[in-house]
Order: sequence, then structure tokens, then C-alpha cells
Amino acid sequence: MGTHAEQLRNKIESKQAVVAIIGLGYVGLPLLAAFHEAGYPVLGFDIDPEKPVLLKKGENYLPHLGSDMCKPFVGSKRFDATTDPKALQKADAIIVCVPTPLGQHGEPDLSYVVNTGVMIGENSREGQLVVLESTSYPGTTREDMFPAMIKAAAKKGVNLKLGDNVFVAFSPEREDPGRKSHNTTTIPKLVGGLDKVSGELATKLYTGPIKTVVPVTTAEVAEASKVFENVFRCVNIALVNELKTIMDAMGINVWEVIEAASTKPFGFMPFYPGPGLGGHCIPIDPFYLTWKAKEFKVPARFIEIAGEVNNSMPHYVVHKVAAALNNHSKATKGAKVLVLGLAYKPDIADTRESPTYELIELLLDMGAKVDYSDPFVKYTKPVRKYNLDMHSVDLTPENLAKYDCVLISTNHSAFDYGAVAKHSKLVVDTRNAMKKHAGEMGERLVRA
Ligand SMILES: NC(=O)c1ccc[n+]([C@@H]2O[C@H](COP(=O)([O-])OP(=O)(O)OC[C@H]3O[C@@H](n4cnc5c(N)ncnc54)[C@H](O)[C@@H]3O)[C@@H](O)[C@H]2O)c1
Repeated sequence: MGTHAEQLRNKIESKQAVVAIIGLGYVGLPLLAAFHEAGYPVLGFDIDPEKPVLLKKGENYLPHLGSDMCKPFVGSKRFDATTDPKALQKADAIIVCVPTPLGQHGEPDLSYVVNTGVMIGENSREGQLVVLESTSYPGTTREDMFPAMIKAAAKKGVNLKLGDNVFVAFSPEREDPGRKSHNTTTIPKLVGGLDKVSGELATKLYTGPIKTVVPVTTAEVAEASKVFENVFRCVNIALVNELKTIMDAMGINVWEVIEAASTKPFGFMPFYPGPGLGGHCIPIDPFYLTWKAKEFKVPARFIEIAGEVNNSMPHYVVHKVAAALNNHSKATKGAKVLVLGLAYKPDIADTRESPTYELIELLLDMGAKVDYSDPFVKYTKPVRKYNLDMHSVDLTPENLAKYDCVLISTNHSAFDYGAVAKHSKLVVDTRNAMKKHAGEMGERLVRA
């Protein structure tokens, strides 16, 4: 028989371990497909009842991952998807990929993680490995998720002991939706256990589908590394956003400056300015760390300032739009503005935390008549903070000519920038999308 750890190790090695993924979104869904492809029996779990139904039909609801990704699930004896938590009893390994948003006052909202811990505890049995992937501050797995889990298990009469009959680890997800150069299986994966045995078992588990697994000594190191990666991006984006405002005041093209600095073969890496931060990670995760740092009375000045600079960008951009309209003898109030791109980055449909929402709202507040165009987002579904109820406008020459200003927020490659240059009265560009057309546009082009 052997110990629980030995039994689990054998199951993982022989690919008989049933791997359950909780939360089948941007992170969980590709992971489910990767474990299935690697030969493991998989169980997808989500509270959204639509997702298991679609997956059973082989349909992928995340278009950037390709329509074929879920086809192998159809008819596979190694695949199941459910909304029934009791099914988690079957799992040998449970990987948690639920959201970690910010609350109304910018504080971490760990309710998804804690509730999932409770749910796992209520349905647990001895000998399971649980891995948290959701991004959070160091200590989340040990201090928040695990206690919720063991308490719920104890209520059901299951006495869980770490490293003995339950194993727990953290392994951060590093997904970058839309990136062509890497996918879930090729991005190196950090793994840190709450104890040594848990770390070893989790490392073994990921070695199945993931090419490079990097064990670290504790779950806290793995948690902190992930937050550091996102802080690094947040601070550098803030730096380049600030540089943009300085260069603009000096009449220097910041994009040319970045291109020039990037020719240095060492000691520099380029970051690019934009209309503000978007996505599930960079606008959110750094503030999990600043919040936790307060507990230790350590100021996180750099990160807070980066947040301030990045959060001010939509206001900066809207100010540039107003000034550009003014230069064309047009008041913002009553001006017709077409915003290009609702998704937060090019060529995907993800609009989470997209700064375009704020741009639209600020322009509406100033009395502008605003439309948007995005080939990936045909309608503005209600999101946490916004309910715009708008439909995407087609980017035809006739439509472009109707607007007093076209504001480029996201540089989708599907946009016809030649047509934008030719038919727009005025373009405000936050992404250097009009680089090739700057000559022909003259004063009709403003960088912001
Ligand atoms: N999207 C990214 O690019 C990315 C990259 C790295 C890390 N992350 C992190 O990964 C985590 C998940 O992010 P995501 O982008 O996959 O989110 P997502 O919103 O795309 O998916 C989350 C899924 O979890 C489900 N869910 C919510 N509560 C649940 C519960 N109690 N039980 C089961 N399912 C539940 C939702 O229905 C949804 O399908 C977050 O912590 C995020 O910070 C995301």
C-alpha cells in the first residue's frame, strides 16, 4: 500500500492520477487541455454551468486558444467536466485557478480562493494534492486557503495533516493570452510546497505536461516571484508612461526614443506607454503585495507611485483628445469620438480592466458622443464597474469620416490604419499604431 505520498507519487508517474482543475477560464482551460493531452484523466470544474456543457461538445469558448483545443475532449474516457463539487472526491490532484480580483477599495478579494478552499475541504478525502495557481500575495496558500480547507474537512470528520494525508503547493500561472511564442506547456513553471513532500509531488505532477518545471523551496517564494514579475511590469510601464509625458512636453517622440534606447544590447529592455493598464494581472496583482506589506509596516512606495502614474493615464489621454479637438476649433462637448479597441491588448477579446472603458466614460462625462470599434468585442457586456450598452461600429471609410476624432486605444492588427489615416479628420494615437502614416497625416495626428 505505502504512505499516501507514495501512492500519489505512483499514480502521478503512471499517469493514473485524476487531475481536477477548478476554474476553467484563461488559466484553467488551457491547463486542463495540457494535462489531458499529456495522458492524464482530467476533471474540469466551474461554477458557470455553461462551461462544462460546451467543453463536453468540444467547443472552446476562449477564441484566442484556437477552435481545436477542446475537440480531443469529445468521446474521451479521460475527460469529464462538472459543476458538482462532490465529483472532486475522485480527484487525486486538484489545481485551483479561480479569480483574485480587487475589492471596491483596492483591497485583495480572496473570497474565491477561500470559498474554493472550503469547497475542497467539504469534499475532500485523504491523499489528495491541492495546488493553488491564482495570483496572490505571499502567504495566501498557507494562511488563507489551507486553513479554510482543513476546517471544512474537519467539520465533515476528515482530519487532514499536511505532508501526511494531504499535500498543498502553490504554482503561479504565467499565461499571456494572445502570445504566439509560448503556450501553457512551454512557459517554465515555478512550484513551491507548503512542505517538502508537497513541493516534490506538485513538481512531479507538472512535469507531465510542462516542459520546464522549476521547484523553489516554499510556496511563499513561488507566490512572491509571481507578484514580483507583475510588479516589475507595472513599475516599468509607469516609468515609460511618465517618460511619455515628459517627452511630449519637450516635443520629442517617445516611441523613437524607446526604439533608439533598445539598440543597446545589454542593460536595457523596452516597455511601451499606453492609455492605462488592462487585463487581470498588471493592474491588480501589485496591489495584493502593497496591501500585505502594510501588515509588516513596510512601505511599498515604488509600487504605489507606479499605480498612481498608470491610473492617471486615461485622464492624460482624454486631456490630449480635448486639446487636439480644441486645436481643430472643436469643443469636446458635442464632438463625435470613435475609440478603436475595447480589448485591453491587441488581437484578443479580453476586456478585463481595459482602460478603454474609462476613456469612454471620461469622454461621455465631458459631453462627447462616443462610439467604439473592436472586431473582437461586438457588444459591451456589463462588467464589474461599467455597463456601457454599446455596439461596435464597423471601420468603414464612411464611418471614419463621420467622427471629429478617432482615438486609438488598442492597436488590433485587423484595423486598416491606412484607411484610418486617409478618412479621419483627427487621430489621437496612444499606441504608435499610425507610425507609418505620420508623414501623410501631419497635424491630423496627435500622440497621447
Ligand atoms: N488571464 C491571465 O492572463 C492570467 C495570467 C496569470 C495569472 N492569472 C491568474 O490566474 C487566476 C485566474 O485568472 P483567469 O484569467 O483564468 O480568470 P477567468 O475569469 O478567466 O477564469 C476564472 C474561472 O473561474 C470560475 N470560478 C469562479 N469562482 C469559482 C469557484 N468558486 N469555483 C469554481 N470556479 C469558479 C469562473 O466561472 C471562471 O470560469 C487569477 O488569480 C489570475 O490573476 C491570470
